[in-house]
Amino acid sequence: MKPTYPQVDPQKIEQAKQTLLNGGLVAIPTETVYGLAADADNEAAVNATFEAKGRPKNHPLIVHVDGIDAVDFWAKDVPPEAWLLAQTFWPGPLTIVLKKKDRCGEFVTGGQDSVALRCPSHPWTQALLKALAGADHKGLTAPSANAFGRISPTSAKHVAEDLGVKPNGKLDMILDGGTCMFGIESTMVDCSNGRPTILRHGIISRAELEKVLGFEVPDAGSDAPRASGRLKSHYAPKTKLVLLDSEEFVNAVESFEGKAAVMARRSILEKIACETALEIEAPEQVVEYARILYEALHQLDDSNADRIFIEMIPDAPEWRAVLDRLSRAAA
Ligand code: TXA
Ligand code: MG
Repeated sequence: MKPTYPQVDPQKIEQAKQTLLNGGLVAIPTETVYGLAADADNEAAVNATFEAKGRPKNHPLIVHVDGIDAVDFWAKDVPPEAWLLAQTFWPGPLTIVLKKKDRCGEFVTGGQDSVALRCPSHPWTQALLKALAGADHKGLTAPSANAFGRISPTSAKHVAEDLGVKPNGKLDMILDGGTCMFGIESTMVDCSNGRPTILRHGIISRAELEKVLGFEVPDAGSDAPRASGRLKSHYAPKTKLVLLDSEEFVNAVESFEGKAAVMARRSILEKIACETALEIEAPEQVVEYARILYEALHQLDDSNADRIFIEMIPDAPEWRAVLDRLSRAAA
């Protein structure tokens, strides 16, 4: 069954808008993961985002905008490929890195001269951005709404448990727009200097980008701008996680001395004879796998296991974005 979002509540949108205009922090639902939003023109509010996440100040933030018309208000020297990508994939899970205009503060970009722009398709955040943007296309900075390095949130519950709402937590409001449809962070393409490169893999695949652009889109080199999602260890549960090939999986789980929490395909789960803390069936289709991945990691992490075992996924290009998340979670 294809998941749907709850109907947009205009009162909640208005409350979120006012909170943001007053410099507050609001967790917002997007089609990928929940974001920790602040008014991108408000330095104090943006700085509070870094504090709330515990994220290093030199890691740049994505500016979320209401539509393609906003691009010229935040970026300059926009190449034709970037326009084409935005026209094709926005609103949707694609982030485009461009040369920044002066309007975009260095407090947003971690001192870099580029800005990452994304126009999310989630109806609640679309409505919020439309309500907020105005003639100068105000934007929202929003990193994923999790503590730095931890599992990204795909539901309001994840955000409430991790960052929480004041006074005990760190946020002014959580805008609950249901469970995120895609479940992993947006694809990021660097169009800020010359030929586009992929900074982060996501639901929009390399093949889709190449089909639209008509040429190869390689991964960004290791000299690419700083991006937390490129750190070796990221998206990590507290419990140690190992990725294992199908052949060795059952044996490894059964011979493990502590409590194991596992995620594997049904055919593998059926072979496990020992008791486990939790068993999650891994979806066979990549879209479904991505959608449930972070929820699964949250559940596995909460199961009081001593170790998490995950069956290795297929070695195919369309699984690349999921593999990235899994390897960083296991690092
Ligand atoms: O799907 C998403 O993109 C989610 C939702 C909330 O929109 N956002 C998200 O933000 O994943 P965050 O901050 O968790 O990850 C964005 C990544 C970070 O690794 C950041 O360092 C990198 O993008 N980044 C941001 N601006 C950049 C820039 N100008 N150049 C290179 N990397 C940039
Ligand atoms: Mg993140």
